[in-house]
Amino acid sequence: MATIQEKIEDLKARQEKVKQGGGAKRIEKQHAGGKLTARERIEKLLDPGTFVELDQFVHHRCTNFGMEKEEAPGEGVVTGYGTVDGRLTYVFAQDFTVVGGSLGEMHAAKIVKIQELAMKMGAPLVALNDSGGARIQEAVDALSGYGKIFFRNTLASGVIPQISAIMGPCAGGAVYSPALTDFIFMVKNTSQMFITGPQVIKSVTAEEVTAEALGGAMTHNATSGVAHFAAENDEDCMRQIRYLLSFLPANNLEDPPPVDTGDDPNRMESALNSLLPDNPNMPYNMKDVIKLIVDNGEFYESQAHYAQNIITCFARFDGQTVGIIANQPAVMAGCLDVNASDKSARFIRFCDAFNIPLINLVDVPGFLPGTDQEYGGIIRHGAKMLYAYSEATVPKVTVITRKAYGGSYLAMCSQDLGADQVLAWPSAEIAVMGPAGAANIIFKGDPDAKDKTDKYVEEFATPYKAAERGFVDIVIEPMETRPRVITALNMLASKRETRPAKKHGNIPV
Ligand code: HXC
Repeated sequence: MATIQEKIEDLKARQEKVKQGGGAKRIEKQHAGGKLTARERIEKLLDPGTFVELDQFVHHRCTNFGMEKEEAPGEGVVTGYGTVDGRLTYVFAQDFTVVGGSLGEMHAAKIVKIQELAMKMGAPLVALNDSGGARIQEAVDALSGYGKIFFRNTLASGVIPQISAIMGPCAGGAVYSPALTDFIFMVKNTSQMFITGPQVIKSVTAEEVTAEALGGAMTHNATSGVAHFAAENDEDCMRQIRYLLSFLPANNLEDPPPVDTGDDPNRMESALNSLLPDNPNMPYNMKDVIKLIVDNGEFYESQAHYAQNIITCFARFDGQTVGIIANQPAVMAGCLDVNASDKSARFIRFCDAFNIPLINLVDVPGFLPGTDQEYGGIIRHGAKMLYAYSEATVPKVTVITRKAYGGSYLAMCSQDLGADQVLAWPSAEIAVMGPAGAANIIFKGDPDAKDKTDKYVEEFATPYKAAERGFVDIVIEPMETRPRVITALNMLASKRETRPAKKHGNIPV
């Protein structure tokens, strides 16, 4: 009979074997491809020494196609928990060195366990994906595994933050779990996501495309809008996930953690008084406004490369996390289009689900006109913004810097869509449409059209018509924006607002 010492040695040997994953050769290949292993990624993600691994010895029970001889250490996924900045965080990292990180019944069971723990404990779940998709040998058991994960992704949506990183070639089922989570990171040059890869595409449609062009980091960050963040490499990806988590609460019943940023809440910024160009048709960079008003000029953009006519970012005011939705006059004059509507509606809903106040910076000339947009369903997509803002019960503060016309005025969270405070700069132009368009209709053929248009601009392209009706709460000097926003947020800290009970709404998708 083995002694306890021998049993301990046996345990260590078993643990060591699991740690070696698919073996030195495959680890070398992973490194040669510029990628870290699953365990190395977890080490970089969590606070040093805090990772507790679960289910090290879980083993598949597949006997198809020689799988009974395949050891698959750790079942191709490393799962467990630890801390990020001292806060409990759950993680799973697929191990591409073990059967290509492919997902079978028991691989899925490990992930499901982590999902359920994260839900019970109310802590974020970070998924590091590096997987060839459904383990082909396991057939319908693999599909069932995905189904269980998707189901729990959906249950967890709006309850705990779910963050996915794509860190290798992710095909088939491996892309849908990330798509159900809140944010997707991709690593430039080493990660791809697609439903079907280049070979299948070629055989079905004869279209030729490289894996990178089809589903690389910049394809999904800039073109499809599937991904939210792009990282330079694995290490940068882990650093960025930690940074994102620093803005977020652990779950939907908590507030985001306050941070002592050391920035003066009463700081005035005289540069804001001269930031707008004299000509209202000239662009400026809304990011300059954001930098000047948030704590230490620091903000973290989600979908920075997609629909750049709108900015969505996390930042802090007096140490409190906010979500900022801002029109960007420097891109397409800040018009709202299909992609900008999708981008912002999703961001608004995330913030609302996780008790993050919304700051809306408005300079919007309207919805982008044209057949492209109408055929693309701008009515349906634009309606998402109206829906998301109306549904949101977190504090909502709107600051109108310049244009706020027509439907887009409403879509950027006007008072009627539930803005708790509407602040406007004296340069604000709040009207049913821009002066040129309005003059074209109401003064058409009038010999005094020019004079009348000038009068229209003077009277209507201002914040004062809206202020007369109380649609603007305070007209402020641009330089006072930061203290005014902070005062509004402090006033709104105890906001309680409920919506009618229902199973769920039916947002236009
Ligand atoms: C079983 C797999 C696998 C899979 C990869 N491997 N994918 N084993 N099932 N899905 C194994 C390989 O056999 C290989 O084993 C090892 O993982 C590494 O794979 P390579 O092909 O050598 O790596 P690479 O050249 O980098 O190519 C990676 C890849 C490619 C692009 C991911 O492996 C690939 O195309 N895999 C299949 C993708 C796919 O079609 N998956 C099924 C999708 S269907 P050895 O022993 O040689 O190291 C699906 C349905 C779910 O997911 C739908 C739910 C909605």
